[in-house]
Amino acid sequence: MCVSLCVCVVMSEKLVCVADYESMAKRVLPKAVFDYYCSGADQQETLADNTAAFSRWLLFPRVLRDVSSVDLSVSVLGQRISMPVCVGATAMQRMAHPDGEMATARATRAAGTGMMLSSWATSTIEEVRSSAGDGLLWMQLYIYKDRDLTLSLVRRAEEAGYKAIFVTVDTPYLGKRRDDVRNRFKLPPHLKMTNFGSAELAFSSAEGYGEDSGLAVYVAQAIDPTLCWEHIAWLKKNTHLPVVVKGVLRAEDALEALIHGVDGILVSNHGARQLDGVPATLDVLSGVVSAVAGRCEVYLDGGVRRGTDVLKALALGATAVFLGRPVLWGLACQGEQGVSDVLELMRDELHLAMALAGCCSLAEVNRSLVRRPEFTSRI
Ligand code: LAC
Repeated sequence: MCVSLCVCVVMSEKLVCVADYESMAKRVLPKAVFDYYCSGADQQETLADNTAAFSRWLLFPRVLRDVSSVDLSVSVLGQRISMPVCVGATAMQRMAHPDGEMATARATRAAGTGMMLSSWATSTIEEVRSSAGDGLLWMQLYIYKDRDLTLSLVRRAEEAGYKAIFVTVDTPYLGKRRDDVRNRFKLPPHLKMTNFGSAELAFSSAEGYGEDSGLAVYVAQAIDPTLCWEHIAWLKKNTHLPVVVKGVLRAEDALEALIHGVDGILVSNHGARQLDGVPATLDVLSGVVSAVAGRCEVYLDGGVRRGTDVLKALALGATAVFLGRPVLWGLACQGEQGVSDVLELMRDELHLAMALAGCCSLAEVNRSLVRRPEFTSRI
């Protein structure tokens, strides 16, 4: 469906929740593109669990607490943002909309929050900076076999005023996304990962990628599977920016991360796109938070679709959450406006959830707000 037609359809339908944006995105995107964004790994058990986990935790609100004014603002790595909902890195956004990452950057800035740009963006680090103006940007990084190439991405992010490096640590190989194999997923010919010079590195090689998911072949060729904790120390040594590890699920790894000097930990299972059968991020969050014991900030992504989801993650100790797919659905539906709408929807839902839970600020959101009830047999 062409973009103008897609806009007409979107304008005529009232989209009231992230799920509505997803349904609409499915209607407007080419199948292989929707499949790529939507897929989890293998049987997608963790994909379902990431969202289901939020329903397993219940909110225990306080009442009679004057919630006429609710402050959602928070600091992430020393930067004040308007709400604890940030835009996570998702690759190749021009497949969703011609304005791609640049539209996302404009909408994120307008929302007063931060955006993590994927190394595998279809707009350059510098283009996204120009679009974002003075907005808050962070750089997601894959560590390539080619270390000079890796550091050149870091340098460009530094020079363009990005405020942190989020290094992905769960992708020595790409998880198996069955639809991507079926579709032999690759970028449409008019697009490339524009941060890279050569066609091979820009994932735009005319050679094709055989019968597999093209991206799985790309990762096997370019990304370093020898990645280990020493590389985190190496990265810390080679940048003045804060370094956040993205993809931690266990307390032991959180402690390793602290030993290696990280500035933040993103509890993530990569949107359930890597190892199927891992827990939902919400279920492991408090274990990581306890281990870290306030020594760095802890964030969460995976399955966040509603304001109440954000509130539950914050109650379990996250400083902020990152949205992946919901932003893509907004982008697919209506470009910059669609991303803005999704971010404002999340803000409104979080505001309402906080007020109904009796919290006037994030300082009042604590562990007592959520419980996982014990299920006892009625027989
Ligand atoms: C993915 C990579 C790009 O999940 O993060 O497809």
